[in-house]
Amino acid sequence: MGVKLGILGLGTVGTGTVQLLQNVIGRHPLLQEIEIYRVGVRSLDKPRAVELSTEILTANLEAIVNDPAVDIVVEVMGGLEPARSLILQALKNGKHVVTANKAVIARFGAEIFTAANQAGVYVMLEAAVGGGIPVIQPLKQSLSVNQINAVTGIVNGTTNYILTRMQTEGSNFDDVLADAQRLGYAEADPTADVDGLDAADKIAILASLGFGGRIHLEDVYCEGIRQVSKTDIAYAEKLGFVIKLLAIAKRQSNKNSQLSVRVHPTLVSKTHPLASINGVYNAILVEGEPIGQVMFFGPGAGAGATASAVSSDILNLAATLQTSTANPNPLFTCGHDDYCEIAP
Ligand code: NDP
Ligand code: HSE
Repeated sequence: MGVKLGILGLGTVGTGTVQLLQNVIGRHPLLQEIEIYRVGVRSLDKPRAVELSTEILTANLEAIVNDPAVDIVVEVMGGLEPARSLILQALKNGKHVVTANKAVIARFGAEIFTAANQAGVYVMLEAAVGGGIPVIQPLKQSLSVNQINAVTGIVNGTTNYILTRMQTEGSNFDDVLADAQRLGYAEADPTADVDGLDAADKIAILASLGFGGRIHLEDVYCEGIRQVSKTDIAYAEKLGFVIKLLAIAKRQSNKNSQLSVRVHPTLVSKTHPLASINGVYNAILVEGEPIGQVMFFGPGAGAGATASAVSSDILNLAATLQTSTANPNPLFTCGHDDYCEIAP
């Protein structure tokens, strides 16, 4: 049985995902059955970096989520509406959803997961936090037996890229922001990056997963990097610190369940593991009992990194949809005899 994708959006992430899938479909054993069936965009006249036939590309996104042939809806269009309504409609129609949209999940996660549970389908959101870093699945599964005490992260690639270049090259804020936009790191409205709102969405999601409760965005203290000057960065440097935009969710004490959830520029000692995370890279430090400290690190934004996370969700869903034929032990029986040989 084939798995048909309805992809909403063909911008930075959508294009990266289509390119990645076009490259691996047919070569990856679990992706052989996947078909890029429909791709929804706003403008049909825009030049595109990927080749798609005219039957695949459409400006009618509602038709995609209502199409009975579509198995998985991949929402990579961004924004709150119509993204939220399209996701809900897809779920109501019994489709699994993969989304990179942290803004929608942070605000409407409860409504979306309730709808998914009612329909008996999955919502996957690995790309919503940390770009290409696998952090959602580990928090949800591998670390779930721990009591999480703190999640501290650099979770916005754009601002880390700006602060890094201000620090290492003395670059101007506006010039570096323009570069981050050109490189596809920034949100459609970069205010969300610069003012810390994107990081607030992400820490709200991580905290909800890590601490097992619902975090309301209005309870998250949020301050961005607009006020950080080159002089601040130079003074910090002299004192042995770097300035990072940190997103922090912390249990107030071991005994109670009160949390502090906040985003703000922070003086980070140069000896701290987060101090050396530069450029578009993100890192998320999770502290829990009994595990201690675990740090996730990798590229936090951009087409390729985010496509990796979106595609891994698609792959996991496709494997679930094909459980009867899926191979439960893909590592040692992957079908790629040429690179599965064990070196002498
Ligand atoms: P872009 O702005 O590059 O692309 C958005 C795409 O969605 C475009 O193809 C656009 O169509 C389409 N679209 C938007 N609104 C509509 C609409 N109302 N109707 C039809 N089509 C629409 O965004 P990104 O790819 O950068 O981001 C997409 C999502 O992924 C966002 O939620 C973002 O937060 C998230 N994300 C982004 C990352 C990144 O590095 N860029 C990393 C992780 C997550 P058209 O092309 O015709 O304009
Ligand atoms: N604009 C976001 C960032 C994209 O810079 O981190 C990745 O979520």
